[in-house]
Amino acid sequence: MKVSCLCFLFLELAFYNLVVGTETQEGSNTRVIGGVALTGDKLTQTPFPQWLTDFTGMNQWPGLDPPYIPLSFIDMAKIPDHRAYRQGHCLRVSRAACSFDCHVCLRPDDVGTCGKLSQTFDDGPSRASLKLIDSLENRSTFFVLGINTVNHPEVYRELIKHDHLIGSHSWSHKFLPSLSNEEIIAQIEWSIWAMNATGGHYPKWFRPPYGGIDDRVRAITRQFGLQAVLWDHDSFDWSLISNRPIKSEEEIYSDVRDWKKAGTGLLLEHDGVERTVDVGINVNRIIGKDQLTVAECVGGIDYIRTFPID
Ligand SMILES: *[C@@H]1O[C@H](CO)[C@@H](O)[C@H](O)[C@H]1NC(C)=O
Ligand SMILES: *[C@@H]1O[C@H](CO)[C@@H](O)[C@H](O)[C@H]1NC(C)=O
Ligand SMILES: [Zn+2]
Repeated sequence: MKVSCLCFLFLELAFYNLVVGTETQEGSNTRVIGGVALTGDKLTQTPFPQWLTDFTGMNQWPGLDPPYIPLSFIDMAKIPDHRAYRQGHCLRVSRAACSFDCHVCLRPDDVGTCGKLSQTFDDGPSRASLKLIDSLENRSTFFVLGINTVNHPEVYRELIKHDHLIGSHSWSHKFLPSLSNEEIIAQIEWSIWAMNATGGHYPKWFRPPYGGIDDRVRAITRQFGLQAVLWDHDSFDWSLISNRPIKSEEEIYSDVRDWKKAGTGLLLEHDGVERTVDVGINVNRIIGKDQLTVAECVGGIDYIRTFPID
């Protein structure tokens, strides 16, 4: 079969079901379908490794719906059966499920803030990430999509070269609480395999797309050894590229100045497209380099394991 050469960029929709406009900075060959921008000019892709063929029987990276591959270390009996729910459909979501997106509920092993106001970037790696990497003054944390990782391996390796911390943001940015247990596992396992195949490491930190996490999702991510990372300051940069921006650039910068005075917090930003990358660069100038990676915020490790890659 021919290897698909599409690369995907994802736009954070956070708590809103916004219709995403067609404005992008990715060039005229970009199409936006249901909030997902597809560009059609991929030059390189992470080779599908032999160890993954041996394990999965496959020989190319999956599309937006990765197949569920059973794993011996996942105990399905440990996953509570909280009902699945769609994004924004919170009325019947029980408080007992500890949903972050519905109730801003955090469990003790979630990371929700930081002792120093620190930036985090979701949805890459993308071509726009390179500009950000060039201008960041300090180490930062990037939560990457597996499908973007295998389609931008050279950008991913730039992140590693500049010593940024990389965590998982799932394989293809689905709202996880709406999925079956098997589909959630597939989103996690393929994102980890993408990072391992591209960067030779197994992640420790996980940012759920749209902040969509409850105890059912946590019971799965914990079995992979992942710790969830949320945020306490949303920059709303993602809304700049929607039809209904919530904040202008100037309002974002003004918020950041206020938060800087308070001194602490974890800031949600995006490096999927140039518009939000430009915001990230300006925010970096405002906050300065006195920032921490998520691992440093909580005194944790960067990666669970690193593997030599050739
Ligand atoms: C990670 O990659 C190495 C090869 O570099 C492989 O041996 C190992 O099984 C992989 N582990 C995971 C969890 O992907
Ligand atoms: C980041 O900033 C801290 C404190 O300002 C500094 O100690 C550290 O060396 C910087 N790290 C990098 C990679 O620039
Ligand atoms: Zn995202």
